[in-house]
Amino acid sequence: MTLAASKFQAPKGTRDVLSPESARQRALVNTFAVMAERAGFGQIVSPMFEEVGVFKRLGEATDVVSKEMFTFFDKDQKSPTEFALRPELTASVVRAFVQHRPLVPWKAWYEGPQFRYEKPQAGRYRQFNQIGVEALGTDDPHMDVEVIALAADFYAELGLTRNRLLINSLGDASCRPAYLEALTTYFQSNLSALSEQSRVTLEINPLRVLDSKREQDQQLIDDAPVMVDFLSEDTGSHFASVRAGLELLGIPYEISPRLVRGLDYYTRTTFEFANDVMEAAQNAVGGGGRYDGLAQDLGGPATPGVGFALGVERILLACDAEGVFPAPGTTVDVFVVDATGGQNALALAAQMRSHSVSVDRAFDGRSMKSQMKAADRSGAAVALILGEDEMTSNTVTIRSMRTNDPQVTVPRAQVAEEVLKRLEQQQ
Ligand code: HAM
Repeated sequence: MTLAASKFQAPKGTRDVLSPESARQRALVNTFAVMAERAGFGQIVSPMFEEVGVFKRLGEATDVVSKEMFTFFDKDQKSPTEFALRPELTASVVRAFVQHRPLVPWKAWYEGPQFRYEKPQAGRYRQFNQIGVEALGTDDPHMDVEVIALAADFYAELGLTRNRLLINSLGDASCRPAYLEALTTYFQSNLSALSEQSRVTLEINPLRVLDSKREQDQQLIDDAPVMVDFLSEDTGSHFASVRAGLELLGIPYEISPRLVRGLDYYTRTTFEFANDVMEAAQNAVGGGGRYDGLAQDLGGPATPGVGFALGVERILLACDAEGVFPAPGTTVDVFVVDATGGQNALALAAQMRSHSVSVDRAFDGRSMKSQMKAADRSGAAVALILGEDEMTSNTVTIRSMRTNDPQVTVPRAQVAEEVLKRLEQQQ
């Protein structure tokens, strides 16, 4: 039976990640996990879909909610529930916090796929992976600093040197209304210059207009009033403490007074990391901020929170651009060559794997020559050769593939010991 080639492809905006890129992705997540746990975060694993209401607070005027959510109803005939594949994890984590009420401060890290129906392009996918943290239960500016420092340290650990940290404060309920009023008045008095879409956005959330990427809006946005000029004493001193903490840790930053981010739950500190080697459309390798009202909006007690999410694919593109964090080698230690039919390779491979040695072998009864070629291609340090002579004498021939160590034939019972010795010498 022949299968029609390329009838099915991975859905638009999704990717198959094959080895060794998949090993690189896993290594990135593992590095993050170690660093997050070192900073006192424990992992949360939550469902990939939630009731759609969980995500409503991301903002009716945001692209994420208005255009990009993958929604579906379950199969309950009487009263079907509407769900959404998670477009991000902050709302899910806060939903879990409200549901379980862990002791605060509660510090959770996560990793996994997110889903947004975006227009796919390089670095922008419909299914993409994020790593991130959320810390709930304190509004101490030191938590903001620790969260930002974790992201900055992580990028540095990967070897990235061309990230810029942009920070802003979006104020809170005490000072944001006055700012929104000033912003609305400003845009309304320049309405004819504003793009049609932004005029609609203005009606729903004037702050979102600052997030417009449309050329027509840029000049107006550049001249718009900025939140930092409207901060109350309280939010102003919170922002000052965050900046002082970053300075104390030697983390460079730029104040970006028009940074509003693409989601509506933010209060006070907001930040983004932009990689300068990447194109502007996808140079945001991560971002986050405070969301002090989100727990209450999701039916919980008033609980401040701060966190970030970093885009795994974007970071790997940045690593490519900067030439750092290559894919790890995926070669095996040992390749078994069996000229006696394959049965003996089956047993020997299993024996070696039980000694924690990584092993591959040939299949389909290939010729000795073709098996030796495969052994070479595999990158294995050692080939174990089984021929008729070895079968008769219950021995195995050991050949080092990358060094000039002499080829030896040892009794089957000693093969593991000898291989381990050779592998150790070659490290
Ligand atoms: P976000 O800015 O929407 O924030 O996403 C965070 C990061 O995910 C982005 O900076 C980018 O690296 C990556 N990303 C977003 N969309 C895509 C896409 N379509 N394809 C590839 N990568 C993408 C959040 O998600 C918030 N939950 C962050 C946060 C956590 N705020 C507080 N806590």
